[in-house]
Amino acid sequence: MKKIIIINGPNLNLLGIRETSIYGKQSFNDYLNELKTNYPTVKIEFYQSNVEGELINKIQEIGFTYDGIILNAAAYTHTSVGIADAIAAIQTPVIEVHISNIYEREEIRHTSLISKNVEGVICGFGLKSYALALEALI
Ligand code: DQA
Repeated sequence: MKKIIIINGPNLNLLGIRETSIYGKQSFNDYLNELKTNYPTVKIEFYQSNVEGELINKIQEIGFTYDGIILNAAAYTHTSVGIADAIAAIQTPVIEVHISNIYEREEIRHTSLISKNVEGVICGFGLKSYALALEALI
């Protein structure tokens, strides 16, 4: 059974409550349960942190044993050399996802420091971006 982890960065613990016109009204737990039901043959784990160093620790911890990482680094996408370096250091393939289409938003969101180190990027499809990333990994 393939082992895949979804890692969500800062403020994504507030999905369903936070800026619902951009991120939608569904909580991530709710969506995760749907994903697990729809992909019963994949072991899907989940980790969320608002803390940059904790995200780096998690990437290092699972980055040599899991089959894939679906990473929404949220705001750290645009700022974190540390997360970009952690992705470059590990062996597990990483897919970068974003719920919103970051290219139709403010200019600061048009730059991703992590994209050059990932297998591919999926953005703009709402929470479905995670299912598309899962499809790509399996
Ligand atoms: C996001 C886009 C980021 O610019 C933002 O900081 C987020 C969420 C997305 O999923 O659309 O927190 O990664």
